[in-house]
Amino acid sequence: MIPQLHKLSGAVAFLTIASFWTSTVVAELLLDRAAIVAVKTSVPWGFLILVPAMALAGATGMRLARGRKAGILGAKRKRMPFIAANGLLVLIPSALFLAAKAGEGAFDTSFQVVQAIELIAGAANILLLGLNIRDGRRMTAGRRAKAA
Ligand code: HEM
Repeated sequence: MIPQLHKLSGAVAFLTIASFWTSTVVAELLLDRAAIVAVKTSVPWGFLILVPAMALAGATGMRLARGRKAGILGAKRKRMPFIAANGLLVLIPSALFLAAKAGEGAFDTSFQVVQAIELIAGAANILLLGLNIRDGRRMTAGRRAKAA
């Protein structure tokens, strides 16, 4: 049950943040103002999924690790404070700022600067979550090969 919950919540967290990032880039590069407003004002609602999924992935991961800190588990554990700080201190404030600006139709310099910061911080979290998924899959690879 806990491993399934861990895998599912980790996947939901990764896919949610990847979908924010992709829809922002597609709207900015290919679509019109209305699409950008729609994406930017939707992202904060997505946090209602992302934040619990992230918390659940971290908590179930810690539970599964049962105090083990060496090797792959140590690497997974060390990434979590960066993922959390990036999310709470950069991504959430940026998304709220961008949603407010987009809602007012104010696509000014501050919007562009914060949008660039959000894309960089988002890419960093996608990478870190991707590394945690890769390492998790490595840990269970032997068991999966045996079961096949
Ligand atoms: C949000 C970040 C995380 C993501 C996206 C993630 C993702 C995954 C994935 C995809 C697996 C493979 C599951 C499978 O193949 O059945 C896994 C396994 C595992 N993860 Fe994480 N993980 C995260 C954080 C953590 C943390 C912080 C720890 C604790 C240090 C941790 C500990 C584990 C353990 C012990 C396993 C092996 C589970 C088993 O034996 O079935 N994970 N993780």
